[in-house]
Amino acid sequence: MTEHLPDGSRLSYGVATAAYQIEGASTEDGRGPSIWDTFAARPGATRDGRDGSVACDSYHRYPEDLDLVAGAGVQWYRFSVAWPRIVPAGTGRVEPRGLDYYDRLVDAALARGISPTATLYHWDLPQALEDRDGWLNRDTAEAFADYAAVVHHRLGDRVKVWATHNEPWCAAYLGYSAGVHAPGRKEGGAGHRAAHHLNLAHGLAAARLHEAGVTDLGIVHNLAPFWPESPEAAQAADELDALRNRVWLGPLTDGAYDEGLLRVAPELADERLVRDGDLALVRGSADWIGVNYYTPFRPTLADPTLERHPEVEAYPGATPVSFVVREPRTDIGWEVDPSGLEEVLVDTHRRTGLPVLVTENGAAYPDRTLDDQDRIGYLRDHIAATERARAAGADVRAYIVWTLLDNFEWAEGYTKTFGIVHIDPLDLTRTPKASYHWLAEHIEEHLASG
Ligand code: NOJ
Repeated sequence: MTEHLPDGSRLSYGVATAAYQIEGASTEDGRGPSIWDTFAARPGATRDGRDGSVACDSYHRYPEDLDLVAGAGVQWYRFSVAWPRIVPAGTGRVEPRGLDYYDRLVDAALARGISPTATLYHWDLPQALEDRDGWLNRDTAEAFADYAAVVHHRLGDRVKVWATHNEPWCAAYLGYSAGVHAPGRKEGGAGHRAAHHLNLAHGLAAARLHEAGVTDLGIVHNLAPFWPESPEAAQAADELDALRNRVWLGPLTDGAYDEGLLRVAPELADERLVRDGDLALVRGSADWIGVNYYTPFRPTLADPTLERHPEVEAYPGATPVSFVVREPRTDIGWEVDPSGLEEVLVDTHRRTGLPVLVTENGAAYPDRTLDDQDRIGYLRDHIAATERARAAGADVRAYIVWTLLDNFEWAEGYTKTFGIVHIDPLDLTRTPKASYHWLAEHIEEHLASG
């Protein structure tokens, strides 16, 4: 039973960020190195060769950032906690200065009338754990649950809505199969093992947090619709659905990996990996589910003569596909189709029966001007799609914009900007874009109309 989510009588709004993408201060106050520090330092790992060591410097400028959140009129600020700030070596010693930072952040949000919602894992695994095989090691799941309990112990009197993982699909498959995200390992089916340990980590942490009294514990996924381009690609689309969506939803709703999934990911049938009781722990462990949506996928059977590309490697075991991308597209090359959001929300609610939050939605557009009408159009059309999903019966409680600030966009470095607030690359001055003002007006009208 959730107690602190918006009740859903109307859509509630938020903005989201993630620690490594905005904080900077990567060696300050005892923070340990994370896999993203290590990965980004590799030549060629990020498009512009840059990393998150400075980013938006939100570690120091968070009061100004929270003023901006408040000024947008949103109710929710979705942020993530950096594991290496709290437990610098992944296990063992807790760093009080790391906890102090999030303590200040939470108080500052509440003082501005904003509800903070914390995500515990947004990809910044302590490097010390990766040195012991990271998410391929079962112990990492236990370490995560310990870290989660420490953070909750400190912030739980004020933070009421929690998420364990953000997009574990990326952490598992982009990190360990395709190698395009940290830790940059291209090891085929290893992604499935990482996925299981991420599921287990969620289950272990959820049990700890529920025991400690949390009532609103969720998990955030980049669930995606797969629309086959041709009848021949239908089977492949089903396999992709298994590897992207059902690998998470199956354990959550049924306590099992389904047959179709096991056919493409036989690793998940190995009893040394998936031990007795693991999936039972995950079943029913979420009080809500977050959906991050950007684009639909249109698989078509890949030309077997083509070189393997990261999209294929990110779905190990599946029939090789490539994705057809129609117009219009955002600057990062993703097709814009709000009906995909509507579909995924209706589907997610149907598959899980849980309250759903749109925990991320937004668009990268080139930074030529602050008058980002393209981003306004994207947000407006996706909010409308969210409202259509609600009208169709999906229990969607909130719409959270990705993202507050132009920031470190992972493998894209700083070359793709999703912010509703522009960051000056030289002095990090924050300037709200037209989309920021549009959002504030939209929310005001939305509140006035009900
Ligand atoms: C999802 C991720 O959670 C976030 O970190 C990323 O910046 C956005 N997608 C855009 O790619």
